[in-house]
This record gives sequence, structure tokens and C-alpha cells, in this order.
Amino acid sequence: MIEIGVIGCGYWGPNHIRNFNLLPNSRVLRCCDKDEQRLERMRGLYPTTAITKNADDLFSDERLDAIVIATPVHTHYDLARKALLSGKDVLVEKPMTHSIETSLLLIQLAREMKRILMVGHTFEYNSAVNKAKEMLDSGELGEPLYISSTRVNLGLFQPDINVCWDLAPHDISIITYLLGALPVTVNSQGKSHYKTGIEDVANMTLSYNNGVIAFIHTSWLDPKKIRQTTIVGSKKMLLYDDLETQEKIRVYDKGVNAPPYYDTYGEFHFSYRYGDIYIPRVEEYEPLRRQSEHFVHCLEERLSPKSDGYSGLRVVSVLEAASQSLKRGGQAVPVHWPEEDRDSQTPILAAGVQS
Ligand SMILES: NC(=O)c1ccc[n+]([C@@H]2O[C@H](COP(=O)([O-])OP(=O)(O)OC[C@H]3O[C@@H](n4cnc5c(N)ncnc54)[C@H](O)[C@@H]3O)[C@@H](O)[C@H]2O)c1
Repeated sequence: MIEIGVIGCGYWGPNHIRNFNLLPNSRVLRCCDKDEQRLERMRGLYPTTAITKNADDLFSDERLDAIVIATPVHTHYDLARKALLSGKDVLVEKPMTHSIETSLLLIQLAREMKRILMVGHTFEYNSAVNKAKEMLDSGELGEPLYISSTRVNLGLFQPDINVCWDLAPHDISIITYLLGALPVTVNSQGKSHYKTGIEDVANMTLSYNNGVIAFIHTSWLDPKKIRQTTIVGSKKMLLYDDLETQEKIRVYDKGVNAPPYYDTYGEFHFSYRYGDIYIPRVEEYEPLRRQSEHFVHCLEERLSPKSDGYSGLRVVSVLEAASQSLKRGGQAVPVHWPEEDRDSQTPILAAGVQS
């Protein structure tokens, strides 16, 4: 039985508690939050899980194998560091930390302590995203030309991070996972309408070595909640709508055939293909359940998780580049990547590597 402690019982933490308590080989022994009301709610829901306001109680609890951190991003580094130092395996929510520097420190510490470090990139455990990856990898969509992602809604405004750090980690992790590569540069433009210095709407452009381009649009200031990713391939196009309950993925057999070379006259000879649209079956499974199972499996078998520390670092590297680009009015900023992991850029780390 894997014994778990969860820090942060706000919006997301209780989902971790529910899932780890439902798995046959894990349970949440203790949970922690600074907010007493939130703890009382957990006590009501999970009477066998002990509550505390002090995270140190979890670090010093010899019975706990692992700590799950579901607190705001500015607390991730400190809490994850203490958890690793106390000998616990760690699952930290996205984005892994607030900077490349602190992400690297956590990776090094996990390695020194021989502990597992996993990041909550939940969409990498999502059946629809995995279906899209399968179709991309099998060549069914052809060569990827571009990917476009939209994650917008009204609120929730965050006090300390801009909309990129709040909403885009999911899109960056999805796109990085799909393409198996990091972008070379990032351009980002955005605007703060309500709190100076904290952009509430932003666009990001990720440019890749092989000419692929990806766009991410995030906003807290939009009348409609949208969660869509479009993959345009040279053969087919795929639309993934996370808000659809049944038909999350649609594949469009649509495309353009260009003449071998064209001039002004040739342009009129493009032919457009309007083929079938089909809806592949996607397994209905809670992505967080799959992620929790993977974490427990990695702990039992001492395996490196699919969304390991490096996966977290990749997302943070893109976010840092985006923040710099925002400050420079949208200029292209190179994505910083530490030399030591250069080999694992393409293809990105295989899951289930023995640690
Ligand atoms: N993977 C996903 O799909 C997903 C979805 C939502 C949120 N998240 C991530 O989960 C994290 C938490 O987000 P949220 O929306 O639940 O935030 P939230 O503000 O609703 O909850 C955070 C909780 O942490 C508590 N907290 C803060 N510092 C603490 C400390 N030092 N010790 C104990 N408790 C502390 C706060 O009191 C609060 O109850 C963020 O990193 C967010 O990005 C991930």
C-alpha cells in the first residue's frame, strides 16, 4: 500500500485525495491546508484521512511514502524541496515551479535523494490526447503542419501569475507530448486589462526546428469557455474538443493539394479535398485517475514517470521564454534548454525508464 500525504485542499487537491483513496493500492493518510474551513470539508468527506495546517507534519511522518503538492505555483519549489529532502517521492502540480533554475534544482535533488519526481501534466494521461498522438505517430494525419490551441473562459484571475502560467501549461505539455520536441523560439503578446503586469489575455507562437508552428491562445477575459486543439497534418486534420462529452475528437479528411510548382497562374490550380469526417472511439476514463495509477505504479516499480521532472522543466522553459517575449512586445525569444538533457529533446524521454 502506497501511503500518501496531500498538501493543498483548494479546488484541485481534493481530486487527488479522491483518486488516491479509490485506488486499491494507495490511500491518503494525511492532508494539509492553511485554510481551516477547507480542512474541515476534507474531514467530512474523508474521515479516515487526518488533517493538519502544518506541512511539516507530513514531511516528518515516517509512514508516508509520497507527497502530492496541489498549492499555488509560488509555493511548489519550497514544498517539493522539503518533501524530497525528507525522503518522500513527489507529485507536484503544474507548472512544476516558477523558474527554470528552481525546476533544475528539484530535478538534481530528486536524483541525489533517489526519489521519484512527477509533474501533474494531466492531459498526457487523457485518452483523447493519447488517441491524437497515436494518429500523429502512425502517420494517419501526415506530417504535422501546425497545431492551434485555445483555452479561454471568464476568470479566474490569479493574483500572482499571468494567464500564460495559469492556463498554457496544459497546452504546452499537450503540444510537446504530441510533437515529441521542444520549440526553438517563442513569441508572445498579451495585455493586462485589470492588474498591471499580470496579463489576462495572451497569444503564444511556438516555432520548431522542422518548420512546424504552434499557436496557443489563453484568456481569463472571454465570454465562452473553450478548450480546443486543432492538429493540421499534410493528410488529415484533427479537432480535439475537451468540452465535448462523447465526441471529443473529430478527424477531417480535408486538405490541399498544391501543384508541384506554382506561379500566379498555378495558384488557381490548388485542389481542395473535402473528404469524410469521422469520430474515433475514445476510451472514457478520468485522466487524473490514469495519472494517479501511473504515479503509484512508478513508486511501486521505481520507474521514471512519463511526466517526470524534465517534462516539468520543458513546460517551465517555454513559459519563461513566453514571459520574456511578453516584456519585449512579442519578440522571438530562444527556449533555454540545459545542455545535459539535450539528447532527450527528440524524441522526448521514453516513459517507464528504470530509475
Ligand atoms: N492538473 C490539472 O488539471 C490542474 C487543474 C487545476 C489546478 N491545477 C494546479 O493545482 C495547483 C492548485 O490549484 P488550485 O486551483 O487548487 O488552487 P486553490 O487556490 O484553489 O487551492 C490551493 C490551496 O493551497 C493552500 N495552500 C497554499 N499554500 C499552502 C501551504 N504552504 N501549506 C498548505 N496549504 C497551502 C491554500 O490554502 C488553498 O486551499 C496549481 O498549481 C494549479 O496549477 C492543476
